[in-house]
Amino acid sequence: MSKKPLILGIETSCDETAASLITENEQGMPIILSNVISSQIDVHKEFGGVVPELAARSHIEKIDWIVQKAINDSGKKIEEIDAIASTAGPGLIVCLSVGLSFGKALASSLNKPFIAVNHLEGHALSPKLDSTLNYPYLLLLISGGHSQFLNVQGLGKYKRLGTTIDDALGEAFDKTAKLLGIEFPGGPQIEVLAKKGNPNKFNLPKPIFNKGGCNLSFAGLKTAILKISKDIKTEQEKFDLAASFQKTVEEILYKKTKIAFKEFEKQSKPKEKVFVIAGGVAANKNIRSMLVNLCNKQNYKSVFPPIKLCGDNAAMIAIVGLEKFKLNQFNTLDYPAKPRWPLDENAAFLKGAGVQL
Ligand code: KG4
Ligand code: ZN
Repeated sequence: MSKKPLILGIETSCDETAASLITENEQGMPIILSNVISSQIDVHKEFGGVVPELAARSHIEKIDWIVQKAINDSGKKIEEIDAIASTAGPGLIVCLSVGLSFGKALASSLNKPFIAVNHLEGHALSPKLDSTLNYPYLLLLISGGHSQFLNVQGLGKYKRLGTTIDDALGEAFDKTAKLLGIEFPGGPQIEVLAKKGNPNKFNLPKPIFNKGGCNLSFAGLKTAILKISKDIKTEQEKFDLAASFQKTVEEILYKKTKIAFKEFEKQSKPKEKVFVIAGGVAANKNIRSMLVNLCNKQNYKSVFPPIKLCGDNAAMIAIVGLEKFKLNQFNTLDYPAKPRWPLDENAAFLKGAGVQL
């Protein structure tokens, strides 16, 4: 029986300090030995959003014992670790620098390889932690900072099919929650409130619904919510607005996913049609079931990470580390933190005024 790689993943790109040890079984299926996540909700709550300097300070305070706890929980010894994988981007540079420097220092002191991981690739590969997944597959990545359809052709090989031209979907959930007076982080609360409301009460805009291929746009939706929320007087109206927002988002994703399916099939002619939905917003149960229904109708296999691995975590960083380790893809210790690091480096930048679709 050959020794299986033992990988330590470290994640500090935003407001979660996380560390995880993973390995794999004889069949090559990953095994999560530990997965420690410390959220900073209490640090940022009073400011209604993530404050970068405070986030970085909190990472510095915690990184040492979070990594120690991940090693202890795994039942392994630090000397048994074969490689250390840290998120190098995208994210807040002051936050990225903490996990990146820590990972490099540990790799150097243990004399083990260091692997720089793209946080978005972590989300993209997160379903591999509990499902077998072959390339190529279509990915919808919906998180707090990104909303994209990507053709995942292999490790490190991404073709972007569509992206948001303004806000990310998670951001739209968070801003809507804020306008409804829900405490930070409010995004996940929207689906809870939506259950009590009438989804047809407010007619909200669906920007670029009928143009722009599978590109997405959520800024107009947020502006509409801002206007309506000023006139909201009762709790029931609040529930109705949450429900109308949730429904509108589902309609946008339904239509844009159908377009992405066609573009993916044209580009890759896949033998098996697989659709992966990952990132924090993939935890939204209504979005999950709506997309499962669409996949059933269109002969796609739908794959989600387990709900607890949708949000930021270090197991998803470790799985990228594991795949890279097996291909001997290591990085030197001068690898920089990259605040902006698109998965498809060749895709045009599509944000801001004057974007032509
Ligand atoms: O992937 P993630 O943890 O961090 C980023 O890389 O951005 O995603 C966080 C985002 C937040 O905007 C949060 O509001 C959203 O995911 N989110 C949800 C739900 N759970 C988390 N949005 C809608 N419904 C949810 N249940
Ligand atoms: Zn993330």
